[in-house]
Amino acid sequence: MRLFLFVLLLVTLSFSSVFADHSKCPSSPYFDVAPSDITHAKDLSAAELAYHSKYMQIAIDIAIENNSKFAAAIVHKNGTVACTGVNVGGSRMYHGEVKAIMNCTTMYQQATWEDYSLYTTGEPCPMCSAAIMWTKFQKVIFASYVSNMYCERCFNQLPMDSNEIFKLGYGINHNIVVIGGVLDNITDTFFPSVCNQAETGWGVTPLCQKGWSRECPRPSRYFGN
Ligand SMILES: *[C@@H]1O[C@H](CO)[C@@H](O)[C@H](O)[C@H]1NC(C)=O
Ligand SMILES: *[C@@H]1O[C@H](CO)[C@@H](O)[C@H](O)[C@H]1NC(C)=O
Ligand SMILES: *[C@@H]1O[C@H](CO)[C@@H](O)[C@H](O)[C@H]1NC(C)=O
Ligand SMILES: *[C@@H]1O[C@H](CO)[C@@H](O)[C@H](O)[C@H]1NC(C)=O
Ligand SMILES: [Zn+2]
Repeated sequence: MRLFLFVLLLVTLSFSSVFADHSKCPSSPYFDVAPSDITHAKDLSAAELAYHSKYMQIAIDIAIENNSKFAAAIVHKNGTVACTGVNVGGSRMYHGEVKAIMNCTTMYQQATWEDYSLYTTGEPCPMCSAAIMWTKFQKVIFASYVSNMYCERCFNQLPMDSNEIFKLGYGINHNIVVIGGVLDNITDTFFPSVCNQAETGWGVTPLCQKGWSRECPRPSRYFGN
């Protein structure tokens, strides 16, 4: 009898999945967000660019003095530098942004950073973008774009623009202002092409779309234009 009921249950389940009506299903469980947005350095006013460049230069100097490409500085909205961090290896997760957030958290015993901006020499990867969002920064300002590092120079990267992740902030009620390209004329020189050096560990063969150049717009793959 038990076996019979079990078989009946299985048959019912399989029939219901075959005949289930999915026509009312949305395309995904989640809210369809507006197009991803980001402000590029070239669209900032001269005063804004000068302000952000000053702090980006601090992150750049930390990267250079530690023989690294990736460093970050966390700055209060009143202009005070709270802490810095730099990727000096040790773990594939110790990116400059994560190191800076951990440093500030240790120094100030503070978990969230609503009144702070994070400056980073490289566009945040999905791991760091999520970390920056969870820790509630007001702004993130980066220098070199992931697309330029990856597509132009074969630098290994998770190929995703950071604003794709930051746009998901509605899920934790926290949106972040994203500004890209501040002093990338300096940080881009940190990334010489490694296209012929796959063996170094940094180089990959980038799977980028034909016809792409850094002048192309950055529509979101997930959220449209
Ligand atoms: C970065 O370099 C400075 C100056 O050489 C040094 O004092 C500091 O300890 C370095 N930071 C890290 C995380 O290695
Ligand atoms: C800026 O804010 C930080 C953090 O609250 C504080 O420690 C610092 O004294 C302030 N600096 C100025 C110049 O107001
Ligand atoms: C943490 O930030 C402070 C203040 O900017 C800096 O002096 C120190 O080198 C940083 N520590 C690490 C491990 O990066
Ligand atoms: C980088 O660009 C800034 C303006 O965004 C400019 O002030 C600076 O001189 C440039 N630096 C180099 C090394 O080209
Ligand atoms: Zn990262």
